[in-house]
Amino acid sequence: MSIEDVKQGEVQRMKSQVWRMEILTDGHRMEKALGLLTPDERQRAARYHHEEDRRRFVTGRALVRCLLSKKLGIEAQQVVLTQTAMGKPEVSAAYFFNVSHAGGQVIVGLSQTHPVGIDIEQVSAPNVDWKDVVGAVFSPEEIASCRRGEDALAACAIWTAKEALLKAWGCGLNANTKALTILPDGSSFSVRCQGAPMTDANLTLLDVPSGYLAVLALADVNTLTIEGRAAINPQIM
Ligand SMILES: CC(C)(COP(=O)(O)OP(=O)(O)OC[C@H]1O[C@@H](n2cnc3c(N)ncnc32)[C@H](O)[C@@H]1OP(=O)(O)O)[C@@H](O)C(=O)NCCC(=O)NCCS
Repeated sequence: MSIEDVKQGEVQRMKSQVWRMEILTDGHRMEKALGLLTPDERQRAARYHHEEDRRRFVTGRALVRCLLSKKLGIEAQQVVLTQTAMGKPEVSAAYFFNVSHAGGQVIVGLSQTHPVGIDIEQVSAPNVDWKDVVGAVFSPEEIASCRRGEDALAACAIWTAKEALLKAWGCGLNANTKALTILPDGSSFSVRCQGAPMTDANLTLLDVPSGYLAVLALADVNTLTIEGRAAINPQIM
């Protein structure tokens, strides 16, 4: 795998970039991708029980290293990646990034100015019943908006946007997801935290293959009120 393999996936959004590629299935390309990873990451890859999970992780991490290597002008293996207490991978210098995988797709968002969250989902993912997801994590307004999950496309869009924003804040699903209300609004979304509008949570619906939905979130956690942080996840800094 080299940067040439992924160039076509680039999209510019609000001074950020989004890269998408298909999860690697070819043995030779997988070997090349593994060659971009650190020894620790190769060990992690070897620990996955399911081959599909291993391929997702390797493709995503190789894509991240490939992009950051090009941006920072260093070898892919030399890019120093760390992880927050809540598990969000980070790079030490100059960039924010986030990665998501679903089905056969992996997507990466990069920004120099804003913490990034990105999520890709399959609208009809096997083993996902939107009615269950909606009941567990949606606010009452979100539940009404997707007719309790009967409208799978609307439910998937809200879920994808919610996860992207929570990933931008770094708390992932370790959050009180019902404190947030995210509703589709054209190619973007309106966001409210405990009823208060958040006008600067930049959520963009991305152009992805049919059957998938993806959302990029560029967020500034400092604009959340103390009450908002406490309601969603007190660990958000
Ligand atoms: C992080 C999380 C949102 C990922 O969701 P997902 O739909 O399984 O997976 P995605 O493909 O969209 O994203 C996975 C990537 O997110 C990144 N990630 C991990 N933790 C993260 C965090 N706290 N914030 C932002 N990004 C995170 C990683 O890069 C990961 O990929 P990698 O492990 O290959 O490097 C989710 O696993 C999570 O919050 N987990 C903790 C709580 C939980 O498991 N709750 C389940 C009950 S609802």
